[in-house]
Amino acid sequence: MAIRKGVTNLSRFLLEEQRNFPEATGDFTLILEQIAFAAKIISREVNKAGIVNILGKADSSNIHGEQQQKLDVFANEKMIQALDHTGKICAMASEEVDDIINIPSKYPKGKYLVVFDPLDGSSNIDVNISIGTIFGIYKRVSSEGDGCRQDFMQPGRNLVAAGYVIYGSSTMFVYTTGRGVNGFTLDPSVGEFLLSHENMTTPEFGSIYSINEANYHKWDERIRNYVDHLKNIKERQYTSRYIGSLVADFHRNLLKGGVFLYPGDSKNPRGKLRLLYEASPLAFIVEQAGGLAVDGDNNILDIIPENLHQKTPLIIGSKFEVELFKKYW
Ligand code: AHG
Ligand code: MN
Ligand code: MN
Ligand code: MN
Repeated sequence: MAIRKGVTNLSRFLLEEQRNFPEATGDFTLILEQIAFAAKIISREVNKAGIVNILGKADSSNIHGEQQQKLDVFANEKMIQALDHTGKICAMASEEVDDIINIPSKYPKGKYLVVFDPLDGSSNIDVNISIGTIFGIYKRVSSEGDGCRQDFMQPGRNLVAAGYVIYGSSTMFVYTTGRGVNGFTLDPSVGEFLLSHENMTTPEFGSIYSINEANYHKWDERIRNYVDHLKNIKERQYTSRYIGSLVADFHRNLLKGGVFLYPGDSKNPRGKLRLLYEASPLAFIVEQAGGLAVDGDNNILDIIPENLHQKTPLIIGSKFEVELFKKYW
């Protein structure tokens, strides 16, 4: 049976994809399936958030000085629990954990690393606005045993897979292994992610720009000039859309075209977003979909991290808008 929308579930699709890699061992497939499993659990909590005790603040904060939300902590735990026993991974890194996450000694280690932002858009949890999970998978560079911090100091170019989950009006799982981008929509009645967006590509240009304009007076003048220019492109009436959840703003622009910017500013010169588990995975996805992602001077995928939680300015989306940004920068 050919791959068919609405009928092909993620497992079937992963198996078909795996068959294209004769040397594939299935390790990969298992990791992606486990991430999808964690996504189903998180989706269930997100969808009940108003009636179970999962809203509001946890009594902890993370390395970024952010007050953790209960769902940040819950999603982080579910991602770790879904992956730590697989025997396919030698370490993980999460927005919500200061150092790398080692695999408990009772479980075998594998050759992959997983990085993730377990719950993106935390400020939107309690007001029922779309939030997400972002993940990336690398091959280890260290030889054996526990993974180490150095394993994670790889540029996004080395990603072997990346994806995100968006918990919105529907829950979607979108990923790439470097052979295009495919999207699956959760059918809660059967608990399966079903193929809904095959071979996703982003438009060459769009008419949406996403940026938090409250920071306008803190931006570098070149950013102000760029945004003001977009507003004056006569042949295209740009509209501004800003949800405040990176995954939601990214997903809308991926489908409709346009550009998302979280630049540095006078208060936060390197911006707010993190390279390892936000910018790099989304940059891999957008390039696979025909778009582009830069920090201003460099392609995001070429930046080698120096620490797990380093921040980066992020300009990501359709080629036209990002290439135009580079001319302003
Ligand atoms: P996270 O919830 O994982 O910490 O990420 C929040 C990020 C990102 O989702 C969003 O684009 C950005 O914060 C919004 O920041 P501002 O509220 O400063 O615009
Ligand atoms: Mn956060
Ligand atoms: Mn985030
Ligand atoms: Mn987060």
